[in-house]
Amino acid sequence: MKLILVRRTGQLDWELQRTLAPLGEVHALGPDELDLSDLKALDGVMRSVKPQIVVNASAYTAVDRAEQEPDLAMRINAHAPGVMAETARALGAVLLHYATDYVFDGTKNTPYTEDDPVNPLNTYGQSKLGGEQAIGQVGGAHLILRTSWVYSLRGDGFVTKTLSWARRQETLRIVTDQVGSPTWARMLAEVSAALIARGLPVLQDYFLEKGGVYHLGGAGVVSRFEFARRVLQLDPRPEEQIVHALQPALMTEFPTPAHRPLFTPLDCSRFEQMFGVHLPGWDNTLELAMDDLKIN
Ligand SMILES: NC(=O)c1ccc[n+]([C@@H]2O[C@H](COP(=O)([O-])OP(=O)(O)OC[C@H]3O[C@@H](n4cnc5c(N)ncnc54)[C@H](OP(=O)(O)O)[C@@H]3O)[C@@H](O)[C@H]2O)c1
Repeated sequence: MKLILVRRTGQLDWELQRTLAPLGEVHALGPDELDLSDLKALDGVMRSVKPQIVVNASAYTAVDRAEQEPDLAMRINAHAPGVMAETARALGAVLLHYATDYVFDGTKNTPYTEDDPVNPLNTYGQSKLGGEQAIGQVGGAHLILRTSWVYSLRGDGFVTKTLSWARRQETLRIVTDQVGSPTWARMLAEVSAALIARGLPVLQDYFLEKGGVYHLGGAGVVSRFEFARRVLQLDPRPEEQIVHALQPALMTEFPTPAHRPLFTPLDCSRFEQMFGVHLPGWDNTLELAMDDLKIN
């Protein structure tokens, strides 16, 4: 079994490279091997590897910069997934692709289901929605997992930034009016690998039967403010923190080039029922994730 994983150093693809390894020969393509903005090269690389499975956790994820580079964001997030779907279908491969809660405008006050209308507020959200639609139009064997607030204990995401701010600033102002479902990249990668394993050896039939868009994130709902507070409570080295006050703020106090939706928790019950899994709460998962920091 051959798998293409588009990259290996992003939050999610780093974890996927590890969780997918027991399933077969993983071709995790680095920047020298593939640039998703080159659609012809993408098709060529896929045809030369001839995978049975294509996993795409790569995306143009710079939400603010996308406002200045809409064409590039569109090529990477919308057109490239369409090419992947088409080439995967031609090769008899399945496609597992990740999408975003930013397809919603955040005006609801209960978690979003797959049936809720989409209305992205920014270029990133529009381009990612374009990716979902392009894959859907090809109609091959695919699963699209819409996730939200992905974090990792590696790199420069919200959790690591919060820990770092707490070591440099006495006061932290964190927004209370942005609400979502934090999702640990490792949990997402493990569920993804389990999903593929469950479909073997008839993966194409499995993906064709179950195919479509599913919500998959950490269970529960939390504001950025409460999430940050929990991160600081779980910090294994609290003595390094100099922060004395965590102050509530509003999104309007931090203007950014891209508008962001305020409320985007995902209702993942369709995914749980379809695949017979139980998604742990964001709080339990964060505790497990933070344990990694005790080791280092
Ligand atoms: N982070 C979130 O809060 C969040 C929320 C909802 C959905 N998602 C979705 O979840 C997936 C994983 O997100 P993430 O947080 O793991 O993203 P990430 O850490 O920003 O990683 C993005 C990955 O995309 C790759 N990439 C960017 N431009 C590329 C190009 N032109 N060609 C090939 N690869 C390229 C990057 O590789 P290089 O660094 O080598 O360019 C990197 O490996 C994405 O589909 C994202 O849209 C994320």
